[in-house]
Parts: sequence; C-alpha cells; structure tokens
Amino acid sequence: MAEEPKPNDLWYPDKQTVRRSHVKDYDALRARAATDLVAFWEERAKELKWFKRWTKVLDDSNKPFFKWFVGAKTNIVHNALDRHLATPTRNKLALIWEGENGDLRTFSYFALAREVCRFANVLKSMGVNKGDRVTIYLPRIPELPIAMLACAKIGAVHSVVYGGFSVESLHGRIEDSESRVLVTADGGYMRGKAINLKAIADEALQRAGTVEHVIVVRRTKEKVNMEVGRDYYYDELMALPMSRAGTNGRCPTEVMDAEDPLFLLYTSGTTGRPKAIIHTHGGYQVGVATTLKYAFDMKPEDRYWCAADPGWITGHSYIVYGPLILGATSMMYEGAPTYPYPDRWWRIVENYGISILYTAPTAIRGLMRFGESWANRHDLSTLRLLGTVGEPINPEAWRWYHRVIGKARCPIIDTWWQTETGMFMITPVPSFPLKPGSGTKPFPGIQAEVLDEEGNPVKAGEEGKLVITTPWPAMLRGIYKDPERYVQQYWSTYPGKYLTGDSAKIDEDGYFWIIGRVDDVIKVSGYRLGTAEIESALVSHPAVSEAAAIGMPHEVRGNCIYAYVILRAGQTATPQLVDELAQHVAREIGPIAKPEKVEIVTSLPKTRSGKIMRRLLKARAQGLPEGDVSTLEE
Ligand code: WT7
Repeated sequence: MAEEPKPNDLWYPDKQTVRRSHVKDYDALRARAATDLVAFWEERAKELKWFKRWTKVLDDSNKPFFKWFVGAKTNIVHNALDRHLATPTRNKLALIWEGENGDLRTFSYFALAREVCRFANVLKSMGVNKGDRVTIYLPRIPELPIAMLACAKIGAVHSVVYGGFSVESLHGRIEDSESRVLVTADGGYMRGKAINLKAIADEALQRAGTVEHVIVVRRTKEKVNMEVGRDYYYDELMALPMSRAGTNGRCPTEVMDAEDPLFLLYTSGTTGRPKAIIHTHGGYQVGVATTLKYAFDMKPEDRYWCAADPGWITGHSYIVYGPLILGATSMMYEGAPTYPYPDRWWRIVENYGISILYTAPTAIRGLMRFGESWANRHDLSTLRLLGTVGEPINPEAWRWYHRVIGKARCPIIDTWWQTETGMFMITPVPSFPLKPGSGTKPFPGIQAEVLDEEGNPVKAGEEGKLVITTPWPAMLRGIYKDPERYVQQYWSTYPGKYLTGDSAKIDEDGYFWIIGRVDDVIKVSGYRLGTAEIESALVSHPAVSEAAAIGMPHEVRGNCIYAYVILRAGQTATPQLVDELAQHVAREIGPIAKPEKVEIVTSLPKTRSGKIMRRLLKARAQGLPEGDVSTLEE
C-alpha cells in the first residue's frame, strides 16, 4: 500500500495505475500537443462521429470570437446516444438512479435514447423549434438529463436552472433566455423533505411573461397548482398515443452546425445579474470527451459517479454529455449525503460498485465532520480514482479523502476549470505524480500562465493572475445577448488572453496552485455567487436602502457570506429584521446564498467615485490590517 503523503510531497501512483492509464507520459503528451494545438484537437475530434467533417479546425480570424470545426455538421446527441445503439453499448446501463427515499431506476443506452426521443417529440408538439430556448428547473432525477438531451436532439437550446435556486434566480434566467417552455417538477426530496419546486416556479412565472407551457414531472406526487391550458404533466404527455408530432420512441436527430448553440448556463460574474454562457455542439463534445477519458481514465468497466448536480457545468459536462459520449455507466443520486445517516454516499459506493467518484472539497469536509467510522463500515474497495472540483482542496480534506475513502490507493484528480471553460483545464492524469492541493499542470492542448499587473509572467512561487493564452475547443462562445461584455470581461485586461478571475502560483516544478477568486465572485460550498446578486436581493427588500456583501472564510463551506445593510429612513434595526433579511436572500436567490451574518450599519466604506470597498469590509471583519485606504471617502 502506498505511503500517505504530506502536503507538498509528491505522491506517485502505483505501477498498475500507470499501466492501465490512457496517458502514460503526461509531460510528453503536453509538449507534443503544444507544438501543434490544432493538430492535437483535430486528432481527438476524429475519434467522434460527425455528419460532415470540418473544412477548418480553428478559425481565429475574428478574435476573441473563435470558431472550432468550421463547416462541420454534428449533434452532440448523435455521439452521446445514437451511435451507441449500433454497438453492444446499446444494452449497457447508461444511468443508475437512486432517489433519496430509496427509489431506484435504471436506463440502458437503448432505454435512455428512447425516453429522449419521446420527450423530444413532446417538446416538438409544443412548438419548440431549432434554436428555441427551454428552461429546465428540476430536482436531481433522470428527467433532468432526459430533458437536456431531448432539447439537444431537436436543436433547441437548454438553459438549466439549478433546483436549489429560488424565485428571482429562476425568473431572471427565464426572462433573459426568453424561454417559451419550462420543464419543472412537483418537487424533489432533500434531507427527508419534499421541496416543492412548482410553487417556486409559479411565483417566478408571475414575474416572467415569456413562458407559454409548463411541463411538470411528478416526483413527490404532492398536490400542486396546475394552470389549465399552461401546465401539463410530463407522464401524461409522454403517454399520449401518437400525437401530432408522434410521441413515440423515434425522433430524428437534428443536423446541427458545429458552432450552433447547445446550451446556455447562467453564472455569476463581477457585475450585475448572472450572465448566460454559451456552449456549442461541436467543440464542446471534443473537449469534454477527451478530458474525461484522459483525466479520469474512463474505461468501459467503470461505474462512475459525479455527485454534483446536473444543473451546474460540472453536471452538464461530466454527468450528462461526457460520460454518455464515452459510453460509460453513471450513477446519479437525488438527495443529501447525510440522509438518513452520514454514510449514505459510502453505502451507494458499496451497493453499486462505484469505481470513480467525483465531488467537491466542501462535501468532503462536510462528511469528514462525522468521523471516519461511517465510511469504514462500508466496502469501498471498488474505488480506483477520486476526483475533486469547485475550489482549492485544503490538505486536511485531501488527506482524509485519500486515506479514508481512497485507502491511500486511489489517485486524487484535482480538476480546475470553470463554467466558461466547459472542460477540465488544469488537472493531473492518474499516471502523474500528485501534490496535495495542486491541480498539477494544464491539460494537453491548454496553455496557461500566471501574470503580474503589467502582464508579465511572475517568478516561480509568486502569486499572480491566472490566464489562458490560446483557444480551446470547449471554450465559451460568448455571453448571450452581450458580446461586448464577453470581450470586456474576459479578453481586455490582458489583450488576447483569457482572464479566469482566479489568482494562482506556479511552483519550481511547474505545478499550478489555485489560490481563489480575485473578483467579486464568492464560492460558497463550491457554488458561484456574485456580491452584486446578493446585494440586489437585499435592496429588493422594502426595509433596505443600500447593501454590501463579502465572502468570509468558513470551515466547511470554504466561504460564507456576510452582508452589511443600511436601512431606509423610518426602519428600526431589530433581530427579527436581521433574520428576515437573511431569509429574504434565501427566498430570492436560493438557500445557498443565505448570509451567515447580516449587520445593520449606518454607512459603508466607499471610494470617492462611490464604489463600495468590499476589500476594506473584509479586512475589518477579519480583524486584518486595512491596507491602502487612500481612495476612501471620509
Ligand atoms: C471557479 C469556477 C467547473 C466546475 C465547477 C465550478 C473555482 C473550480 C477548482 C479547483 C481550485 C477551483 C475557481 C474557478 N475552482 N475548480 N479544482 N481548484 N479552484 O465552476 O462555478 O464556474 O466556478 O471555481 O475559482 O474560477 P464555476
């Protein structure tokens, strides 16, 4: 058995891991890819099926509006489902799903493809056409990937809103995407309780006018309000005998241009409302399939479990599209890791023989708190690889994950990437020596640098801004309806280089260490929130005139939110009001955004130009030196 590493130590994989690895010499592959990025990605693209091949791999004539696989015809569903139906994969399990209440459903590739066709026909019968946006707001149930794939199949653009989000988040996303159809559910189970999503959707729909039809999946079977002529039950639509469009098990896969949009996914940025990141059919499938195959070393015999929610980019790329393209068997679990006991996850690993587990540091820290005996009462010997994502993993959590879950046997693949990047950008592969807390090096075909304010690479060990210097196939193609902001936010700070928003270091061995966000984005339990969103939720409360939100270190969640509010004249600060304000944020955005602390103040530190100095609030809250306050207005 391998030795347990200390932080900064190199951890070498055993011979067997190296032998079975797709990539045996990571540095050599990276060096080879770097000599000709276009050729590297073209070779990977040839491993997938295309209706028509490209005339050009990369079009960089209109930077930063890059195009990949120009002229190619494809559809990601053709690679994720259709092509498997002509192979033995047809009969393989694509999805194993366990509900929090113990329900179990499984889908072979054949069954999943059929379900997707039927739902695609339902969408068509509701008038959904190629290019139309469909908002999906569902709990973690099989209908979530089914609805996504059904949209993609007919060329509609899905916009998934995480089921943990609430009224205003949902409303804003429906309105911005101008969706005419919403797919939701009566609810889902979380910590033993049924969460009524339909009630939240109803409230959001009162504020948003574009939606004509609502399709409601019955999960909890609780009674919900159904508006006649607008709301329909999913199961009833699916059961209709051959409607106009024919809700049978056949539906042709729409031929898409490689650059046609596949989905919008909203994410928090530096300013204003969350923005919709655009991903496309062609390049995205190449990036996602390649990274999953190499970094997690996916093999046909694996049983893979990404414990994230499909509503985030992690789920889009590595629950839905990536694993299906590779013909893998995926696990999906609806509920909380601690329900009914803190060994629920380990029970799932044992029961289904999971070999690859992919989760976030916050989940590991959360489960660590209950002690290792919960994990130790289960047979975890099927695990061979562990993944992590979402925020830097602290050495303590790394070691616990490695020792208690991975039995000091499984490599930990720490994948750094973003909603915008679509795919892993900095990650080890299983044959590569690890350093706990480092995502090691950029994936082959990816060029990353750490720069100082002037745009020069910093020296080894020094902190700077992480940028990506060359395009990659799964890169975002823009911000929906806002091309200027795309250029402004990502490509202007260091002209021609993609700004990640993270700070990082590169050590003497060329290993990358992510430090964290350097903009007004806060990662709470790995979820990405913007200070602006939280502030605007607070200001939407009638008692509030001004607000500022900051991220503060938190033991389990990584960061939590502190909010500072100035009340309107005539309002009095009471403990009840403080409580109500925190609740209000949870109701508007979602429980994850609920501030840990709300403090009522009479003034906020601002610059002379009127910008709130969050940095100063944060320093004060942490009892740290205030730093440069020369711009502070007295
Ligand atoms: C931000 C992107 C893409 C998966 C989920 C998050 C942070 C992500 C890591 C990691 C350190 C990480 C960064 C990044 N982050 N993975 N392995 N190590 N930090 O996607 O919500 O778009 O957030 O998450 O700060 O910028 P996202």
